[in-house]
Amino acid sequence: MKKIQKGIIKNIEKIALDTFALEISSSVLEAHSGQFISILCPPKTLRRPFSIKGFKDGVIEVFFKLKGEGTNYIKSLKIGDSVDFMGPLGQGFKIQNKKSLLVGAGIGIAPMLFLKDELNKKGVENFLITGFKAQDEAIEGSDKTVIGGSVIDFLPEIIEKFKPEVIYSCGPEIVLKLVSKVAQDYNLEAQIAMEKVFACQVGVCRGCVIKILKDGKVQNATICHDGPVFDAKAVVWE
Ligand SMILES: Cc1cc2nc3c(=O)[nH]c(=O)nc-3n(C[C@H](O)[C@H](O)[C@H](O)COP(=O)(O)OP(=O)(O)OC[C@H]3O[C@@H](n4cnc5c(N)ncnc54)[C@H](O)[C@@H]3O)c2cc1C
Ligand code: FES
Repeated sequence: MKKIQKGIIKNIEKIALDTFALEISSSVLEAHSGQFISILCPPKTLRRPFSIKGFKDGVIEVFFKLKGEGTNYIKSLKIGDSVDFMGPLGQGFKIQNKKSLLVGAGIGIAPMLFLKDELNKKGVENFLITGFKAQDEAIEGSDKTVIGGSVIDFLPEIIEKFKPEVIYSCGPEIVLKLVSKVAQDYNLEAQIAMEKVFACQVGVCRGCVIKILKDGKVQNATICHDGPVFDAKAVVWE
């Protein structure tokens, strides 16, 4: 079982419609893009997972969008309040020294911004395209921002101009499915960060199982523990 941590809210601020950036000071030593933390949101007993957007000197940053009771609880926290979380959890993106195209949709921009930072630090050329439903939901930091349309429509042109060797993506399942298809069409490797409603967060309850192809066989994998990042070619879409 992963250790439960206590953190202190360092900052919480609105960054877009119903969307907030949260910084937690912690004793965490290492975190990578694609990993997540799970925050306890009393009176809910099931923790709520959030992708890590940034990490520096023990400070973990996440973006959260208001949904229900859990995210409204987090919004009510004040600077200096204590927060109970687990993590960093899960397997993050495997960074390679390859020209990288990053595709985010909505709040899926969070791990893409972290990945962009990590790639920049390693000097890996990258391009981030992100899509939002409306201007007031848009979050800054991308090389191209699409409002109201689909990021997928822009991928062929970007691929032909930028010539990436690998694609990374995070967003709703439909976007990940289409990104996987584009990657296949262009014979490009792709890593995608999947999402499902989590219960235990650590691979025990099997509530977040998906089918993946491994060693030529279809097998079960948990998004929370074996993922959330998977090789797009391995995912068996249902
Ligand atoms: C690996 C992972 C990373 C995530 N990263 C982010 C992030 O960076 N920022 C962000 O805003 N959200 C993220 N989410 C989604 C976030 O966990 C849910 O929005 C949150 O748990 C909703 O909690 P709530 O109590 O406010 O809403 P609830 O009242 O519990 O639910 C409101 C709606 O959200 C859905 N939901 C509830 N729990 C989850 C869940 N665990 N995963 C997906 N949908 C859920 C419900 O089906 C319902 O439709 C991530 C989810 C996963 C699995
Ligand atoms: S949430 Fe329990 S196995 Fe993934």
